[in-house]
Amino acid sequence: MKIGIFDSGIGGLSVLHEAYHQLPGQEYIFYADTEHVPYGQKTPEQIMGYAMDNARFLMEKGAEALVVACNTATSVAIKELRASFDIPILGMEPAVKPAVEETEKKRIMVIATPVTIREDKLKSLLHRVDEQHRVDLLAMPRLVEFAEREEFDSKEVKDYLKEQFSGFDKEDYCALVLGCTHFNYFKPAYREYFGDETLLIDGNHGTIRHLADVLGLETDKTQDKEVYYDDYHKMLCSTKTEYYFSKKLINDEKTLEHLKRLHNRLEQVRKI
Ligand code: DGL
Repeated sequence: MKIGIFDSGIGGLSVLHEAYHQLPGQEYIFYADTEHVPYGQKTPEQIMGYAMDNARFLMEKGAEALVVACNTATSVAIKELRASFDIPILGMEPAVKPAVEETEKKRIMVIATPVTIREDKLKSLLHRVDEQHRVDLLAMPRLVEFAEREEFDSKEVKDYLKEQFSGFDKEDYCALVLGCTHFNYFKPAYREYFGDETLLIDGNHGTIRHLADVLGLETDKTQDKEVYYDDYHKMLCSTKTEYYFSKKLINDEKTLEHLKRLHNRLEQVRKI
């Protein structure tokens, strides 16, 4: 089965990476809309237009199912996408439900883009699952820029986190929900800030499990083996993936090396 996965940028790679673990036998087309990243600071009309274009492109390339590997595009466009295309389309939303279910008493922080935080989709999710009003929301738009620059552990990143979190007492929090796929790359920095007790929760595992269910596919039971690549040729060979950056097929050494480094980073932080 050919599965299309899109995001505004490299955040969606974290979803593709999880798919390599759970559904290694499938073919993938990965689309990062690098011409328009960051979506989180665009208008809903713009994001809707990008999402429709990306989906159309992936369908033309033969995608039989789509994963909108972007919380921001999901918030704005998922209904319209499903109404427009006749294939299974999965979206992503901040994993608030598992956070509420897996914890009690202490507070939960959801970090996401400004659009995801503003849109009604998250508000209605909170209305449904946050009965005890334990969830706080915080926009972290600059993390998207840092991720696109492949800057994950710098002093600037740590200072930015400190500054954004400064209005909250970290002792009050038992979970941090990563409500933007770009935010996965920074797990070591959150860990350093919050310590070992705070749960870091992202939606990737659940999204791919759900994808497998919807498509009637068996997930790989050896999914916990590590997936590192020593060179990009091996990465391309073993994963049956075509990569596009805004409609441009990626086949140059420099960008493929970049993608390989990002996959290795995602593997390193997967279990943190
Ligand atoms: N990775 C995206 C998300 O999950 C969007 C980031 C952006 O482009 O602002 O929300």
